[in-house]
Amino acid sequence: MKSAEKLIIIVCFLFQGVLCREFSISLPESVEALRGLCVLIPCSFEIKEEFDADFQKDRTGIWFKDGTDHNKNKVFNSKVTKENRIEGEIIGDLHMKNCTTIFYNIRESDSGRYYFRVETSGRLKHTYSSSSVDIRVQDSPISPSITLYKEDQGKVEDQNEVVEGTSVSLICSAPAPPCLLKPPTFTWNFLSEERRQEQNHNTSFSSSQLNFSATHLHHGVDFTCTATYQLQNKNKSAQSSFTLHVLCVLCREFSISLPESVEALRGLCVLIPCSFEIEEEFDADFQKDRTGIWFKDGTNHNNNKVFNSKETKENRIEGEIIGDLRMKNCTTIFYNIRERDSGRYYFRVETSGRLKHTYSSSSVDIRVRDSPISPSITLYKEDQGKVEDQNEVVEGTSVSLICSAPAPPCLLKPPTFTWNFLSEERRQEQNYSTNFSSSQLNFSATHLHHGVNFTCTATYQLQNKNKSAQSSLTLHVLCKC
Ligand SMILES: *[C@@H]1O[C@H](CO)[C@@H](O)[C@H](O)[C@H]1NC(C)=O
Ligand SMILES: *[C@@H]1O[C@H](CO)[C@@H](O)[C@H](O)[C@H]1NC(C)=O
Ligand SMILES: *[C@@H]1O[C@H](CO)[C@@H](O)[C@H](O)[C@H]1NC(C)=O
Ligand SMILES: *[C@@H]1O[C@H](CO)[C@@H](O)[C@H](O)[C@H]1NC(C)=O
Ligand SMILES: *[C@@H]1O[C@H](CO)[C@@H](O)[C@H](O)[C@H]1NC(C)=O
Ligand SMILES: *[C@@H]1O[C@H](CO)[C@@H](O)[C@H](O)[C@H]1NC(C)=O
Ligand SMILES: *[C@@H]1O[C@H](CO)[C@@H](O)[C@H](O)[C@H]1NC(C)=O
Ligand SMILES: *[C@@H]1O[C@H](CO)[C@@H](O)[C@H](O)[C@H]1NC(C)=O
Ligand SMILES: *[C@@H]1O[C@H](CO)[C@@H](O)[C@H](O)[C@H]1NC(C)=O
Ligand SMILES: *[C@@H]1O[C@H](CO)[C@@H](O)[C@H](O)[C@H]1NC(C)=O
Repeated sequence: MKSAEKLIIIVCFLFQGVLCREFSISLPESVEALRGLCVLIPCSFEIKEEFDADFQKDRTGIWFKDGTDHNKNKVFNSKVTKENRIEGEIIGDLHMKNCTTIFYNIRESDSGRYYFRVETSGRLKHTYSSSSVDIRVQDSPISPSITLYKEDQGKVEDQNEVVEGTSVSLICSAPAPPCLLKPPTFTWNFLSEERRQEQNHNTSFSSSQLNFSATHLHHGVDFTCTATYQLQNKNKSAQSSFTLHVLCVLCREFSISLPESVEALRGLCVLIPCSFEIEEEFDADFQKDRTGIWFKDGTNHNNNKVFNSKETKENRIEGEIIGDLRMKNCTTIFYNIRERDSGRYYFRVETSGRLKHTYSSSSVDIRVRDSPISPSITLYKEDQGKVEDQNEVVEGTSVSLICSAPAPPCLLKPPTFTWNFLSEERRQEQNYSTNFSSSQLNFSATHLHHGVNFTCTATYQLQNKNKSAQSSLTLHVLCKC
């Protein structure tokens, strides 16, 4: 060693760090990376003074992994990125000897020791092999977490039930490591104006808060929160879901009100008073469209369906839902009842949406009366009232014939009566009581009425046809002479 060099070394020793800079690097011992995301390596370095001029011209930062061999270990070159084995960016200003680096899209295989090297087009080419940073890739993939907070109760652990009307917050929280140039953005699948979202970013986590008052509309809803990370060349999303169970306070349930049984007149009709209720969550569905369906003796769609209010072609029983389905009134009339129509009837409501419910817990028993409908004629004599089993009357007596026929509530109009023997002097009067209708014929008996067959016909207007039934009474007028 020449004496001049010796002197320099001595001077350098005395003024180390001031005049004579050595190659040195400052790196953390280890950094943690989120799998699929990124990692930040804070880094700064120093070079020997003699290379200062070189360094002014151009600079390349290079990273080696698990060794410093140029062929085997080079994973990143800041100038020639084409062959890089890891995506990244030196975000520090190399000119200021700041080699702070971000690596993106970290895979588990990226775990290892990383060494820095600086190169120029001149003589400066130095690998800092004495110091390295250990990149540790976290095992679990990134995913946001959703936590439910209830008004005045704080965080609700292991529970997603909330009583209707409670003010709740859902907080979606996702890791926001320092390697991100921008914090993640959050989106919720279920967000409308009245539900306000607020984002919060702190150093290691970002979160988004959704405040709302729980209603039945939120019941069973999957709240999905998506955290989107803007990486170097792509956007990466991760999401989590949370299902809320809203307990109702004054909840409506599926229920139906039907009489235990109704009596039908054979050949005529039967009225089934009926009203039902649906669960609140189907209210919107129900506003759109509604179909009423009746099953008989079971609730199997193939075997038991007898009536559909929309598609009447295949109905096995004629009928009409006369109630306003929209008002949940399923009052129904069946017409032309045959004996085999006897049985238990079950109601079902359907919409084109999700609402399709069979009220299988309640049914109405339709009992078809054995005897066919027919009117009855009764003879009344002046001052004597009803005349039983007798059709004899003395000439000159004022008499009334009353023809009475069943008028069950299933009739939209009471039956009309006609007599075969009706002229001006005989006046007819119709009377409708709840379940019977009648027609009264007043006249004074003369020999002209003797042996006459008085026939009364009751005509029922049904849905698609008119149905008639008749009875007769033959009067015997006893001569006064
Ligand atoms: C290096 O650069 C990074 C990124 O610009 C910066 O955050 C950091 O403060 C710099 N370090 C030094 C020592 O200036
Ligand atoms: C949500 O509610 C919390 C308190 O429960 C409040 O601090 C926050 O500001 C609310 N956020 C919005 C966006 O209303
Ligand atoms: C950052 O957010 C996380 C999760 O939201 C929280 O646990 C932590 O206390 C917050 N840190 C600061 C400094 O606010
Ligand atoms: C990432 O998302 C942001 C914001 O939505 C958008 O501006 C940007 O173009 C996206 N980048 C890529 C690579 O898709
Ligand atoms: C249902 O509709 C029928 C027929 O219109 C009506 O008579 C009945 O009063 C209604 N029931 C209710 C509970 O409104
Ligand atoms: C028929 O006679 C009864 C009393 O016998 C009377 O109440 C009724 O009003 C009469 N009807 C007609 C149409 O004259
Ligand atoms: C109507 O007819 C029914 C049955 O036939 C009878 O009981 C009732 O008294 C009659 N009402 C009137 C107002 O005539
Ligand atoms: C009419 O008939 C129904 C059953 O068919 C019965 O429940 C009701 O009591 C009857 N009404 C009158 C006024 O007789
Ligand atoms: C009365 O007339 C009807 C119809 O014309 C007939 O069916 C019935 O047999 C007759 N009754 C008597 C007793 O003549
Ligand atoms: C039933 O009778 C009424 C009154 O007589 C009539 O207006 C109607 O057209 C008839 N209906 C049928 C289906 O015959």
